[in-house]
Amino acid sequence: MTLEKRIEDLEALRESRLEGGGAERVERQHAEGKLTAHERITLLLDPGSFLELDPFVVHRCRDFGMERTSIPGDGVVCGAGTIDGRPAYVFAQDFTVFGGSLSESNADKICKVMDLAVQNGAPIIGLNDSGGARIQEGVVSLAGYSKVFLRNTRASGVVPQISAILGPCAGGAVYSPAITDFVFMTEKTSYLFVTGPDVIRTVTHEEVTKEELGGSRTHSSVSGVAHFVRADDAAVLQGIRDLLSYIPGNNLDEPPRRASRDAPSGGADLNAFIPEEPNRPYDMGELVRRIADGGEFFEVQEAYARNILVGFIRLGGRSVGVVANQPMHLAGVLDIDASVKGARFVRFCDAFGIPLLVFEDVPGFLPGTRQEYGGIIRHGAKLLYAFAEATVPKISVITRKAYGGAYCVMLSKDIGTDFNFAYPTAEIAVMGPEGAVNILYRRELAADAPASARSAKVAEYTANFATPYIAARRGYVDDIIEPTETRSRLVAAFQLLEGKRAAMPKKKHGNIPL
Ligand code: HXC
Repeated sequence: MTLEKRIEDLEALRESRLEGGGAERVERQHAEGKLTAHERITLLLDPGSFLELDPFVVHRCRDFGMERTSIPGDGVVCGAGTIDGRPAYVFAQDFTVFGGSLSESNADKICKVMDLAVQNGAPIIGLNDSGGARIQEGVVSLAGYSKVFLRNTRASGVVPQISAILGPCAGGAVYSPAITDFVFMTEKTSYLFVTGPDVIRTVTHEEVTKEELGGSRTHSSVSGVAHFVRADDAAVLQGIRDLLSYIPGNNLDEPPRRASRDAPSGGADLNAFIPEEPNRPYDMGELVRRIADGGEFFEVQEAYARNILVGFIRLGGRSVGVVANQPMHLAGVLDIDASVKGARFVRFCDAFGIPLLVFEDVPGFLPGTRQEYGGIIRHGAKLLYAFAEATVPKISVITRKAYGGAYCVMLSKDIGTDFNFAYPTAEIAVMGPEGAVNILYRRELAADAPASARSAKVAEYTANFATPYIAARRGYVDDIIEPTETRSRLVAAFQLLEGKRAAMPKKKHGNIPL
């Protein structure tokens, strides 16, 4: 055979791989509002940068008539390319080929790109759209999942791992995305569950649709499994590109730097931002945007545990991970969900060298039997542990309330925070004035005491403790700053901390209260 003919054959084979499971199945995929694996990769990566690996791999199954059907690539498109010029490794399950199900060969392909990503210090991006384990392959397929889970775990904290759920994701297959750092979902075409509606009906007699059970709304606002929801495939893929602009390729690289951009208002109008009445809510997200480069706050888990905000900003061009109490929801109290949300984000930032910034306005941990029975003690401890363990530069700004245990947790000086600032409106105390007076003066303020006696005690306590000055006199806060100075102080402070070197004692690993 001539070389010319051989090249012709190669081109034909290459062309055929783009057809996946055939025109009809591709059409069905499009009709459902979904893109094919190749189309997704084209949108995700820089134009022309995709280097595909193993396009000719086929399955090895010889049962159930499978020996008569094999499609090059075997239901997953794998390889590497660049995103904004930086390397990234990707696998995209092709639902048009055996429902994107995971076979032995298919798992081997995924493992190959995961190993390359770790070796070369670049993110792993998984585009999931699959019926789960390839039923015809049985345990061989399950073993394939185990190999992927092992790699997800070993890669954790070494390279960022991002999962996009762009179709079904069921059974144990959900655990690979669950181990990864960030999970994106499409609004209407994706779902994740361990067991589907049919099994649930049989076992618990509950009636639930697949959307209610594992759709994007459920996972972004109820379970907390999904970090980002976007309208469709294209928006998810753009979201992944945006997210990567804040994070490094691996745990030894620096986070990417951009040119500094002013905040739209420069923070000049912030002095009027914190309400004078201590119980009046305000939008902490707005405060974050007002001090961030370009006014941009890339929020993570926006719809989940809304009493705490987490996400990325740039300050003077540097990536910073923000954790902030949100007085607009539950008065910014810390509860189980908020603690877990905050802790996971803090650990991501610490693993990848992204400095941490806290804005604090927290009345304490949420009281009540639901929280206590649910384990607020061990869940709250996660956030405390994560902040204390973090060795990246850490800065906190107390805007208003910093009460009780929540004061300690939210980057207080004595859990190793580098710079602590407070606004003049800060109140730093064991508890709020009303609660404190009830306990301190219980006997004097018995039922028949005049209301004026109580308000005098509350006023006395407020004057003494509901200020930042006692903390500042002892050095628990480094300085009291005007809100308008926030941005300039923070930009300067993070620059000063750039060379920070800190280490934890040598150990195999800690035992975070899971
Ligand atoms: C082999 C599969 C498949 C699978 C789908 N297909 N899932 N082939 N193994 N797991 C094939 C179908 O036969 C069909 O082939 C094509 O993919 C499209 O599937 P449809 O059913 O036509 O699509 P749709 O109606 O959109 O339904 C999608 C679906 C459904 C909801 C995902 O296919 C489904 O329920 N699949 C089984 C899901 C499941 O129970 N998986 C095992 C989970 S347990 P043709 O040739 O007709 O196009 C698991 C364990 C992992 O994954 C353990 C890890 C520890």
